Amino acid sequence: MAKHVCPWWVAYIFDNPLRQIFHKLDMFSPYLTDGMTAIDIGCGMGYFSICMARIVGEAGKIISVDVQQNMLDILTKRAKKAGIADRITTFLCDEQHIGINEKVDFALTFWMVHETPDELNFLKQVHCILGKSGTLLLAEPKMHVTFTEFKKTLSLAQEVGFKIIDFPKIFFSHTAVLEKQGC
Ligand SMILES: C[S@@+](CC[C@H](N)C(=O)[O-])C[C@H]1O[C@@H](n2cnc3c(N)ncnc32)[C@H](O)[C@@H]1O
Repeated sequence: MAKHVCPWWVAYIFDNPLRQIFHKLDMFSPYLTDGMTAIDIGCGMGYFSICMARIVGEAGKIISVDVQQNMLDILTKRAKKAGIADRITTFLCDEQHIGINEKVDFALTFWMVHETPDELNFLKQVHCILGKSGTLLLAEPKMHVTFTEFKKTLSLAQEVGFKIIDFPKIFFSHTAVLEKQGC
């Protein structure tokens, strides 16, 4: 595992029951709704994948992708416990390639873009995975990413064909919602 990637055990520091106070389900409204297919890239232990699976309901589907098998294993255990494992597909990707060909309506990259080795290449792939007018919620942690660095990431996103449509307020995060432009 590359040095810049969050070790699986560190995720317990922020992915614990207290997180529900700060990172609430309504942060996805109105971008994620019943019946949608969505991807959670750099899903970690699955806090958001499980939230998202509840929102999309039985008719929807979540693809949860990470570079660490440990993260995916913990996510699967949690999803089974929550009774929604049948709505979540996990996929072990590598650092350079997301590796998903299916088109999705919504993508989440939460506190993970700064860990990728090449943000431009990564954002190109996210753009490609999204279907027409699909949306991306991109959140970066304020403790690791300065506002200037976040603005650079947004410029790269615009370069690959995203349009910024919103700046939702999410605790401890620089956040933007971007819409796919073009085909
Ligand atoms: C800080 S954790 C955030 C986890 C999760 N999004 C959350 O908010 O609970 C970052 C996650 O991104 C994953 N990651 C890092 N680089 C990645 C890459 N190139 N592709 C996919 N996942 C990656 C890490 O393994 C880790 O699980």
